[in-house]
Amino acid sequence: MYFIGIDIGTTSVKLIAADEQGNVAKSVSKEYAIHFPQPLWSEQNPEDWWQQTLIGLKELLEGLNKNEVKAISFSGQMHGLVVLDENDKVIRPAILWNDQRTEKQCKYLNEVIGQTVIAEWTGNLALTGFTAPKVLWLKENEPENFAKIHKIMLPKDYVAYKMTGVFATDMSDASGTLYLDVEKRTWSKPMLELLGIAEGQLPKLYESYEAIGPIKVEVTKELGLNEQVSVVIGGGDQAVAAVGGGVIRTEACSLSLGTSGVVFAATDHFFVDEKNSLHSFCHANGKFHLMGVTLAAAASLKWWVEEVNKSEDFDGLLSEAKEAVIDDHVFYLPYIMGERTPHNDPSCRGTFIGMNMTHQRKHLTRAVLEGVAFSLRDTFEIIKSMGINTPVVSINGGGAKSKLWCEIIANVLNVKVVKLNTNEGPAYGAAILAAVGYGQFTSVEAACDSFIKVTDSIEPDQAHVEQYNQKYEKFRAIYPATKELFKILTAK
Ligand code: XUL
Repeated sequence: MYFIGIDIGTTSVKLIAADEQGNVAKSVSKEYAIHFPQPLWSEQNPEDWWQQTLIGLKELLEGLNKNEVKAISFSGQMHGLVVLDENDKVIRPAILWNDQRTEKQCKYLNEVIGQTVIAEWTGNLALTGFTAPKVLWLKENEPENFAKIHKIMLPKDYVAYKMTGVFATDMSDASGTLYLDVEKRTWSKPMLELLGIAEGQLPKLYESYEAIGPIKVEVTKELGLNEQVSVVIGGGDQAVAAVGGGVIRTEACSLSLGTSGVVFAATDHFFVDEKNSLHSFCHANGKFHLMGVTLAAAASLKWWVEEVNKSEDFDGLLSEAKEAVIDDHVFYLPYIMGERTPHNDPSCRGTFIGMNMTHQRKHLTRAVLEGVAFSLRDTFEIIKSMGINTPVVSINGGGAKSKLWCEIIANVLNVKVVKLNTNEGPAYGAAILAAVGYGQFTSVEAACDSFIKVTDSIEPDQAHVEQYNQKYEKFRAIYPATKELFKILTAK
């Protein structure tokens, strides 16, 4: 038997086929373009997701026994606004999670309607990445497009719709729209009213492990699959990556070092922190989770290596950084795309600060790795302050391939960092959800217990923990001191 997981990521679609023991039989990935038509804008063409998924699926299935494919499920970049007209045509390019055009709309939601009201309706605050402010932006800036909207969906839901014809979404991804009442797991009526959209324009809500139907016959023909393959809706990439990392029980915590960096803690109950700094979302196992996001995690390293140093030699720069001792003078603030947690500030910017004549590239590379780790600690501290104790953190994402970065994170957070038998992240989580939706397991928990094993672990080094505690205190002082300056620098 094969269960296929498809992750509609920001730079590519990743597809994996897992067998019933949870082994990855094959994986494929296909890139697509991301467009930045204006500063702070970030868009993609939904049709590219679908076409590349089809191409990827064909390649994935080559050499596998297609009759053994039992179910397919998804993970997707969250928050993206996809709008279709009455003929199911995409009205305009999707506005993505990392698009920052909605500062004005967020101010309106958080300051005029008020944070407390928005949080009471949805469990969260308005952040520029979330979908609701994008809907408002569209209404204000492209009223002719807004008027054409027949269906509003999220990125993975578009691909699931093309595959099945079923207009569906799941609770975890819907949590990032800011028009779901997360605690009640229903669309928020007052929020929909405020946005001027009707429930009929939104997909039906499922739990992430639920099957939504079979694949359309013409698609099964194109792929050579049998018509019984069921499609399980899946979830937002963070919740699904957490499933792929076995982060499903209270006190389980994961850290993802992808383009963005995410600290994710599973909780049995809905809860929110005092200032609503964290995202309080539905989990893909039918429960809840808390999450904080550093917008530029691996993106910071990529920018530093490729754009600034004009190099592709990541390993070379990282081994240089290993030579640099922990130096509490040089800091990097990873806000090159603005920041979400904890500052919720689209105006802040990346900063190197504190250098003197003795500092070299190796110190700055190390500062980039540390700056991302400190920013993740900001989230971690809020989770701890809510009484959630997470002594072990599983790590995934491209950045986790660097041992140095994993060590820095273990020391900055003072936790044991573990790696798992798979580093496939969300695509693997989606394969698990496919297996659960197919009925191979009775719950997401049972599937994770059977598939996921710890393969490596890094204990914190207490001497470094101490040094980093001191360095973190200084890091925390930099943002408040530069906040107003960023506003001046980014003023239009
Ligand atoms: C989560 C988030 C990102 C995107 C893209 O809130 O914005 O994880 O889903 O990966």
